[in-house]
Amino acid sequence: MATALCPGSFDPVTNGHLDIIERTARHFEDVIVAVIRNPQKSQSLFTLAERQEMLHEVTAHLSNIKIEFFKGLLVDFAKDHGAEAIVKGLRAVSDFDYELQMAQMNQSLSGIDTFFISTSPGYSFLSSSLVREVARYGGDVSSMVPPLVAKRLAERFGGGTG
Ligand code: PNS
Repeated sequence: MATALCPGSFDPVTNGHLDIIERTARHFEDVIVAVIRNPQKSQSLFTLAERQEMLHEVTAHLSNIKIEFFKGLLVDFAKDHGAEAIVKGLRAVSDFDYELQMAQMNQSLSGIDTFFISTSPGYSFLSSSLVREVARYGGDVSSMVPPLVAKRLAERFGGGTG
């Protein structure tokens, strides 16, 4: 198979995201990490440029990854970039209803299929929003995000590791 999309907000990228991106990269020739430019999320913690830079660095060991931004419908971006598949991680049953609905909508709009990868059990409780909250109040997120991201979070919240 050819090109797959791993879409999301990545604010910031977590070890759970990275696990899904790495596993997707083993199954597809090319992977585009599609970062949504989301006007509704005006209170994003990291700018798009910061998110892109972190994604670039934490995926530097993978040769078949590109990081791109998109706005509007994901399936339009997929068509514009010749992507044949969308890949998502499923953490728990609670993800399933919404993800299934989106997958069916995207399939119906475009014919593009969504493939689900089961999140590695050690990451099933992880989300960017919880990581932001824990980091904001000084909790230790070093096992939840790549070291670079932990450093950026500490800088952002004045945690002082550099
Ligand atoms: O990291 P997130 O915020 O859970 O990612 C959600 C995302 C960006 C994958 C999803 O909101 C999305 O695909 N948005 C694009 C808009 C779109 O295509 N909507 C119709 C989906 S059925």
